[in-house]
Amino acid sequence: MAKKKSAEVSEAQIAVHWQEEELIHPSPQFVSQANMTDPGIYERFSLDNFPECFKEYADLLTWYQYWDTMLDTSDAPCWKWFVGGLINACYNCVDRHLDKYKNKAAILFVPEPEDEPHAAVTYQELYVRVNEFAALLRDFAGLEKGDRVTLHMPMVPELPVTMLACARLGVIHSEVFGGFSGQSCGERVADSGSRVLITIDAYHRNGKLIDHKVNADLAVEAARKSGQIVDKVLVWSRYPGQYHSASPPVEGRDFMINDVLADYAGARVDPVRMAAEDPLFLMYTSGTTGRPKGCQHSTGGYLAYVAGTSKYIEDIHPEDVYWCMADIGWITGHSYIVYGPLALAATTVMYEGVPTYPDAGRAWRIAERLDVNIFHTAPTTVRMLRKAGPDEPAKYDYHFKHMTTVGEPIEPEVWRWYYDVVGKGEAAIVDTWWQTETGGFLCSTLPALQPMKPGSTGPAVPGIHPVIYDENGEELGAGTGKAGNICIRNPWPGAFQTIWGDRERYVDTYYAKYCRDKDSKDWRDWPYLTGDAALLAEDGYYRILGRIDDVINVAGHRLGTKELESAALTVEEIAEAAVVPVVDEIKGRAPDMYISLKPGFEASKETETRVVKAIEEMIGKIARPKHVHVVPDMPKTRSGKIMRRVLAAISNTMDIGDVSTLANPDVVEGIRVLVQGEGKVALKKGPEDIARFGDEG
Ligand code: WT7
Repeated sequence: MAKKKSAEVSEAQIAVHWQEEELIHPSPQFVSQANMTDPGIYERFSLDNFPECFKEYADLLTWYQYWDTMLDTSDAPCWKWFVGGLINACYNCVDRHLDKYKNKAAILFVPEPEDEPHAAVTYQELYVRVNEFAALLRDFAGLEKGDRVTLHMPMVPELPVTMLACARLGVIHSEVFGGFSGQSCGERVADSGSRVLITIDAYHRNGKLIDHKVNADLAVEAARKSGQIVDKVLVWSRYPGQYHSASPPVEGRDFMINDVLADYAGARVDPVRMAAEDPLFLMYTSGTTGRPKGCQHSTGGYLAYVAGTSKYIEDIHPEDVYWCMADIGWITGHSYIVYGPLALAATTVMYEGVPTYPDAGRAWRIAERLDVNIFHTAPTTVRMLRKAGPDEPAKYDYHFKHMTTVGEPIEPEVWRWYYDVVGKGEAAIVDTWWQTETGGFLCSTLPALQPMKPGSTGPAVPGIHPVIYDENGEELGAGTGKAGNICIRNPWPGAFQTIWGDRERYVDTYYAKYCRDKDSKDWRDWPYLTGDAALLAEDGYYRILGRIDDVINVAGHRLGTKELESAALTVEEIAEAAVVPVVDEIKGRAPDMYISLKPGFEASKETETRVVKAIEEMIGKIARPKHVHVVPDMPKTRSGKIMRRVLAAISNTMDIGDVSTLANPDVVEGIRVLVQGEGKVALKKGPEDIARFGDEG
């Protein structure tokens, strides 16, 4: 992004108008049991003690061999942590707990159908399943350390079993969110170079048993078109012994895992001793260009970071029942359903389905029945639950000591419902700001040490040192009321190592903007650009405004606008497509799609339907546009760029601003009428992220 905007201020100078919210203190009961009550932690993790401070997190793990170099910067900005250290993530999440906790539930699985019994997987049982499946992966699928394997799995216990089996062998897993289409999955298979795809026949979602295996066929085909051959598809069974897919197994390619597993009953596999900096997994995320980025996460640094933050920010103790209602297909699930909690020997709850199925009380019935005491979800879900059943939580006898919000800014009003009604005024809330790339939390209060402030993520977590820069690299300090680009000054162990196969893009996207010297091996010269706009209050609390690039945060997850636009352009009659965010009551933001047609085509409902279908097929239902507007022409700059800023203003009934410099200013009013109807509508102020959207020069 570059600066244009002459008449207006740039985002680095936007004054922000909201009022400061009151501070709310955690209860003495919470504080008295909390894992971290020593304010000295900030001193221990200050820049003076960097990078050695992170030994405190690494010491939560069991190492085969300690590192000799805490932080190796010789390949800047690809940082290496705990170099010389040897460790296995699966051993740390499973084996080492057996002595003390083998009979304790590691995973509590709640199927979506309410009449289907819950399943408790003890640490011993997890150990057995992971070993047997690891043996299958090694001896049947021929996978070994360093190979990539793509998982396209929903929320079933077989997913963490698969991840941990990979980790045991040093095989790099790349889990693609189950709700993504076969096509999206195939692109990620190809990008990661996976020759094995692991899936399941079916799963429950919103009252339906969904055929999922059919996506594997599409994925294999899409991967083949991109030059990647998948030679084995391993298929778990939602109900072992049954098969719930219309897509028959392909002879010689597809294997029902439960059949093959019979040959590995009782098998045990030694965990492979991995170098701390060996990759543990890839997690794809959207960027500004069409191609998703495979964020490569390390073994030792990542695990240390998620264990430390799970312990101190999530306040997880082994005796807690911890429920993160995210999907393991996103980074939140990797870090804070699987790796962090299991590294701490916690009991982690996995729920298969939709939070409001079959009714708005479901989540609270689960909480009551399992006696969940730590709850973790996203604002989009909080908004949905509040809308569907504002009085439901009070009907159930559960008590949370701690709750998390993650993924997007939470409106203070929604925050207060979460605190008062869901948390019954008893739970400490942490608003955790971070990203797929960062592996774990960047900002959050330490729940027993600092008060909560609705709508603010809080100060940086220990060992993270943010800085807000304006466009010119000037620091915007506390209390200026100005927002800028929030960066992190220092490396930390949870950070991704690179973009899989594209180091140049990694450097360009995350480090080029504020790098002081491209040849420097000193981490101080390489601030990490998060891509978010934020401001810092007088009291040291950060408030995150949202993305500064053209990525739309839908229901707490980033969608690349270019990806959506390319999908729309596969519909034959479409000439141009532009996607902008529109405020959505539940999802926070939703994509609004503008299309123009090739000459000779008429606007029709069918075209709109084809666009929606193309997006669902190529990306997934999560990306479904809220509206499809067929416009005669797009507003464009003189250099021919579509002015998404103007479209975003129209979609959100915000001030369109000055359009006189456009190549075709007269199309704007026509589009406005098409979207908003005849007559003038009252303009809204609109959120800052939308006001800033599409500011490319
Ligand atoms: C983007 C990262 C974090 C894991 C899930 C999403 C936004 C995230 C917050 C928060 C305000 C937030 C940011 C960030 N975001 N958490 N607590 N308050 N905004 O991971 O898909 O990589 O998205 O989500 O814009 O950059 P992701």
